[in-house]
Amino acid sequence: MTDYKSEFNRALQDPAAYWAEQAQSVAWYKTPETILSKDENGNDTWFNDGELNTSYLALDFQIEQGRGEQTALIYDSPVTGSTTKFTFNELRDEVAKFAGVLDGLGVVKGDRVIIYMPMIAEAAIAMLACARIGAIHSVVFGGFAPRELATRIDDATPKVILCASCGIEFSNIIPYKPLVDEALKLSEHTVKHCVVLQRDQSLAEMTNDIDRDWRELLETAESLDPVRVLSSDPLYILYTSGTTGKPKGVVRDNGGHAVALTYSLRNIYNVEAGEVFWAASDVGWVVGHSYIVYGPLFAGCTTILFEGKPVRTPDAGTFWRVIADHGVNVFFTAPTAFRAIKKEDPAASFLKNYDVSSLRSLFVAGERTDPATYDWLCEILGIPVIDHWWQTETGWPVASVPMGLEFSEPKAGSVALPVPGFDVQILSEDGEQQVPNQEGDVVIKLPLPPGCLPTVWGDHQRYLDAYLSEHPGFYHTGDGGYVDDDGYLYIMGRTDDVINVAGHRLSTGQMEEVVAAHPAVAECAVVGVEDRDKGQVPAGLVIIKDGVNVELASLRDELVAMVRAEVGAFANFKQIVLVQRLPKTRSGKILRQVIRKIADCKPYELPATIDDPVILDEIAGALEEGNIGFIGEGGAS
Ligand code: COA
Ligand code: AMP
Repeated sequence: MTDYKSEFNRALQDPAAYWAEQAQSVAWYKTPETILSKDENGNDTWFNDGELNTSYLALDFQIEQGRGEQTALIYDSPVTGSTTKFTFNELRDEVAKFAGVLDGLGVVKGDRVIIYMPMIAEAAIAMLACARIGAIHSVVFGGFAPRELATRIDDATPKVILCASCGIEFSNIIPYKPLVDEALKLSEHTVKHCVVLQRDQSLAEMTNDIDRDWRELLETAESLDPVRVLSSDPLYILYTSGTTGKPKGVVRDNGGHAVALTYSLRNIYNVEAGEVFWAASDVGWVVGHSYIVYGPLFAGCTTILFEGKPVRTPDAGTFWRVIADHGVNVFFTAPTAFRAIKKEDPAASFLKNYDVSSLRSLFVAGERTDPATYDWLCEILGIPVIDHWWQTETGWPVASVPMGLEFSEPKAGSVALPVPGFDVQILSEDGEQQVPNQEGDVVIKLPLPPGCLPTVWGDHQRYLDAYLSEHPGFYHTGDGGYVDDDGYLYIMGRTDDVINVAGHRLSTGQMEEVVAAHPAVAECAVVGVEDRDKGQVPAGLVIIKDGVNVELASLRDELVAMVRAEVGAFANFKQIVLVQRLPKTRSGKILRQVIRKIADCKPYELPATIDDPVILDEIAGALEEGNIGFIGEGGAS
């Protein structure tokens, strides 16, 4: 095995030479000659003159390597009681046919296609079909409410929207089509076609002129070959929560993405062609893009698309069942899933029913792994458990134990060392380098390696403002943390208003907009407070308008219903407290971080600019009375 340190140093000293070498593992149509250059916005860009096709790399190329009859995708769905396997040949045929459907609807290279679908094989097929014809997909997580979908429709301005008639959450059937119809009414942009995959569990009414039946279109579609696209052509847009209510459209290119993911499967996850890689996430999130759909297929692995939950589908043994049934070698999921399993089955008694000996390593990310869950996993599985750190923007891991490189031991509580290509540093607010063990902003020195976002869709200034202006010369991750004396990185949480609920990234600003729209609410702040099961949950601090008489319980019910309807149930907005005032700086900025720390019973520094420090005691009292926050070891009650 190659030594981690020497790889890291090589990537640091001569990024262009290092990534030119890594790019050789990708089957380009035209090998790039320019490795690192500047794009029209003055940004670093990778492999500018390279040409390739992402769907070709994931499918046709694998078939050319003799993997045509190997299983490419396993759709395992405990909620419908079915499992379907697709070989690379079969998946390529499905994708080529669906590419023909899109083409028949007038979708051409560069057009956007929104995919609002549950965890079914057709979601992956649709993504790969877009890639095949050079269309840009934007997958929207199925838990988002119509208003959120509408925001994304207006920003991405898609020609076509693809959806299924329903999703299934545990045993609840959730009709999707009415949500899409509602979103289309709310949005200003006009979509030309809405293609609906009818599922037996609930058929959608096809009443609009733009509605098209997925299977009917397939009957007459031609199969299409992959087209050549430029390395820098966008593969997808994935919206992610920022500090304001408006999500940011993270853009991913084709070339950097292919090189980075191929590199990560080998060097970080250490899987080989023919092995089984499973990421239990959702295609609506970046983990689903990188490690359910694209990465494992680029590496010639079998990937699993799981339509179920860690518990109650049907029990807390379902993950172990999938690992045993399909011989999973490497598994990746969010810690929250294991907290749910541990809660229902603390002795891991279900594990004894399954042979999980195929499993070599377990990766967790998406949020902090609490030590109790980490220790429990190490103990019950007896394999390396790797906490690694990254974000939608980077598209692949920034820090990890690289299992494919020779590396010293992981350290509990740390996300280990930066992956080669990422020069991670810790800066103070003023941009000073922090000494070891001193907390600060976690930043990455430019250039970012291949695969990371080159811009925000349609708003390059927002990209500059959100990521590059805070610390010039560095990419601002939005996370706080420190490195220890050995250079190991510890992520302490977001320094902005992004929260992470059950592994789902949400913006408090998004929820504040909804809460503030209630007629009785004068002002509000939503903060994320620690929660034993979901990592964080939002809590609303609400000021009622003068003279308005409302009962707390009914106001809470109304606000909860509003956030469910406008953002989505997965936001888990359930707690509110009434307050007289909110702590603000003299310039009027709400001190959300201070409120969050009060709720979590953590020490906080009083900002010099606070308007009136007495309010903090009032807030603490209100939170205590409302029983909100992390109460001792046991977690929130
Ligand atoms: N579509 C529609 N609704 C959804 C949804 C989706 N895709 N995902 C979640 N919801 C709804 C749930 O049905 C639930 O609704 P309810 O309040 O009416 O019961 C609500 O949102 C809250 O969901 P959640 O926070 O997920 O809680 P839960 O109790 O339903 O499930 C877990 C708990 C732990 C099983 C679940 O959160 C989970 O699987 N987490 C892992 C997340 C993950 O993999 N993240 C990927 C990041 S790598
Ligand atoms: P997302 O863009 O949804 O992947 O969320 C990214 C954010 O999740 C990061 O900026 C972190 O705040 C958090 N995160 C991801 N992985 C970890 C981890 N291993 N430990 C702590 N926080 C994490």
